[in-house]
Amino acid sequence: MDMVKTIGVLTSGGDSPGMNPAVRAVARTAIRKGVRVFGFMNGYQGILDDDLMELTSRSLAGMLDRGGTFLRSSRCRSFYTEEGRCLAVRKLADHRIDGLVVVGGDGSLKGALELNRLGVPVIGLPGTIDNDIYGTETGIGVDTASNTIVDSVDKIKDTARSHRRCFLIEVMGRNSGYLALTTAITTGAEVAVIPEFRYNIPRIIDLMNSRYRNRLSDTIIMLAEGVCDADTFAQQLREAAGDSLKQEIRKTVLGHVQRGGTPSSADRLISSQMGEFAVLALLQGERNSLVGLNRGRITLVDLEKVCTMKKHLPTDKIRLARHLGIEIGDAVEM
Ligand code: F6P
Repeated sequence: MDMVKTIGVLTSGGDSPGMNPAVRAVARTAIRKGVRVFGFMNGYQGILDDDLMELTSRSLAGMLDRGGTFLRSSRCRSFYTEEGRCLAVRKLADHRIDGLVVVGGDGSLKGALELNRLGVPVIGLPGTIDNDIYGTETGIGVDTASNTIVDSVDKIKDTARSHRRCFLIEVMGRNSGYLALTTAITTGAEVAVIPEFRYNIPRIIDLMNSRYRNRLSDTIIMLAEGVCDADTFAQQLREAAGDSLKQEIRKTVLGHVQRGGTPSSADRLISSQMGEFAVLALLQGERNSLVGLNRGRITLVDLEKVCTMKKHLPTDKIRLARHLGIEIGDAVEM
């Protein structure tokens, strides 16, 4: 096995709270193992632009509690082309990078897999709030984003109750309903509208009207962005209900606030664990894996599998939502 003397690290795609602690753990572990570590700026773009800096204990100070990513991030267009990726391989060789740690979501991990096909040892870390990465039960930033959503919904419920209104809360997640489903559970929402299930408009309208009749003041609907936007959904409710709808509907699109903020303790811990594990894996000769969290343990999962398999919603959370009486629609054949 070739000696690993120098590694690179980058953050790519949508940022997530915990990316900084992950990079910090990668760098600190590498330095303690006598390995030099370079951070590439702006995701894969930094490789193409030779935009990198050596990470030292000093450059990492204050990173544990800082949201966003100090290495910055981007979705790099040129990297989608074979030409761009071949250029990246040459640049990595010029900088004598023996292995690369990529912190990012779905697209970024696919980029890492492509680099590996061209001979670069890569380790991926699941850096996305969407929690849609196969091979890990959670991702870096999921806990913080969930806390942000819960905090916002708790506030919205105050005003919803005062006015006996229905609030549609649109949350991120790309094509996954994970955030909408789990925060429906943790906020006590009445409805979760998620891409994995077929929503049932008449049932939702009945639920809203019966809550209104029974003097229960508010109805909270958690809407995953992967279904449709909040305006479209509100329109569907109004059109289907006509004059029968008693509750007024308002919407809140939480948007990028979900990606910001200081990482929670849980995110600091798993990102640190994953960052450390990534370096140890590279040093042990791993060339093509994702670091995941499964049943409380940090594990390695084949990156090829990660990039080709679809992650499903956890069945225990679906069952829990049903038992708690949350309207989540009907299962559809996948
Ligand atoms: O993948 C993370 C994510 O925040 C998704 O939830 C969302 O759909 C998307 O990124 C937004 O991307 P952008 O920041 O480019 O608008």
